[in-house]
Amino acid sequence: MINPRPVPPSLSATVAYTLRCVGCGAAPRAAGGDFRCETCRELFEVVYPWSPGGRVQPGLGASWRALWLSRRQSNLPLDQSGVWRFRELLPVLERPLEAVTLREGQTPVYELPRSAVYAGLEQLWAKHQGMNPSASFKDTGMTVALSRAREMGFAWVACASTGNTSAAMAAYAARAGMNSLVLIPDGKIAWGKLAQAIDYGAVTCQLRTDFDGCVRVLNQVITRAPVYLVNSVNPFRVEGQKTAAVELLEQWNWEAPDHIVVPGGNLANGAALGKALLELRELGLISRLPRISVIQAAGANPLVRSLRETGGTRLQPVQAETLASAIRIGNPASWRKAVQVLTATEGACEEVSETEIAEAKAMIGADGIGCEPASAATLAGVVKLRARGWIKPRERVVLILTGHSLKDPEYTLGFHRGELPPGTTPSLDHARRPPLALDAEPDAVLRVLEARQTRP
Ligand code: F0G
Repeated sequence: MINPRPVPPSLSATVAYTLRCVGCGAAPRAAGGDFRCETCRELFEVVYPWSPGGRVQPGLGASWRALWLSRRQSNLPLDQSGVWRFRELLPVLERPLEAVTLREGQTPVYELPRSAVYAGLEQLWAKHQGMNPSASFKDTGMTVALSRAREMGFAWVACASTGNTSAAMAAYAARAGMNSLVLIPDGKIAWGKLAQAIDYGAVTCQLRTDFDGCVRVLNQVITRAPVYLVNSVNPFRVEGQKTAAVELLEQWNWEAPDHIVVPGGNLANGAALGKALLELRELGLISRLPRISVIQAAGANPLVRSLRETGGTRLQPVQAETLASAIRIGNPASWRKAVQVLTATEGACEEVSETEIAEAKAMIGADGIGCEPASAATLAGVVKLRARGWIKPRERVVLILTGHSLKDPEYTLGFHRGELPPGTTPSLDHARRPPLALDAEPDAVLRVLEARQTRP
């Protein structure tokens, strides 16, 4: 389609970029369909002239900061996207006005006073990426991935997923007028996510395997069919995801928090946010790096084990098992990128139990904020890092809540009804708030109120 409108100067940014392998440093002209280096099979990252190690024009960061702010006044869909508003930091599109956008990003940062007390902190914040259009952080990446897929003329996009990637991909593919293929582990994803993929028209295949098995199958499918892979091995998708850190820093008037804490599954998100922080420092927009910490479920802890057992030099895959189904991943693709970001930002990697995740989720809920179990792993991790003295009481900590509570209401109901996590968990009873079945009598309700008021 030819765009009939004149393109304003700020739309026609022509930032050059290259791809670089994070394993061997190779810089191919273009990546193959699996987005892996032909030499060492590692992943690529997008590199700009102003990336760390490059050359930054003096004043460039400050001029962009002003430009991004001015775009908040604009009614252009591109400017209303919390991703494309920062498009100077992204691989340029040939026709930016045709970007596939649902006005993603622009997510709020909330204070969590009760959760702060729970974690032994003076204050605590959460950037709620579950407030994106498909209710998870994946939208910020999908807007970039789908825009590129359409520009390149693909008719199909595909992903393996624990649920959120597929929901986001299906939504953006539908908006782009493209077809989408979803491979998900049978019976192992939350209903809300499956419902979304189907609703948005994806061809949805439930494979009798786990997420890691779905990735294996998809890697073979893409060699035999002309589909564009939008899993987080796609370096362009994660460029979109990195903007959450840029937006957070803007929301904090470019003052860096001390810690940013993310849940870890396939390990792309922490890596993406870290990449943004390193770039912002290079551009002079922040002077200090927050520490990025990654929290895994104890039953799906390949990064924790890799760091503990090999110092982060080799991946130690595991057979993953956790009720936080979004991060039920044993063989994460972006482990090397995650190790590099943990090293660069001096962050921590911690594992948390099913009980700790469940309790943390109820605590965040008590702050009036709903999130997925995987997202709540962040608070559970902060509790542990705080107890170890690694996080100090007055330090400023931001949790990245990756998905919305309504993605997985079964988990929430199961927890409050006392049905999960499995095993005896009397220590959690204080956090459970089950619905009460009563006779349809005012006295019955009043008795409940009375009992509550006399409680200490
Ligand atoms: N939180 C949620 C809610 C997720 O859906 C995911 C990943 C993560 C955290 C972990 O992020 O993989 O970048 O480390 N979900 C993917 C999916 C794997 O298919 O939806 P990560």
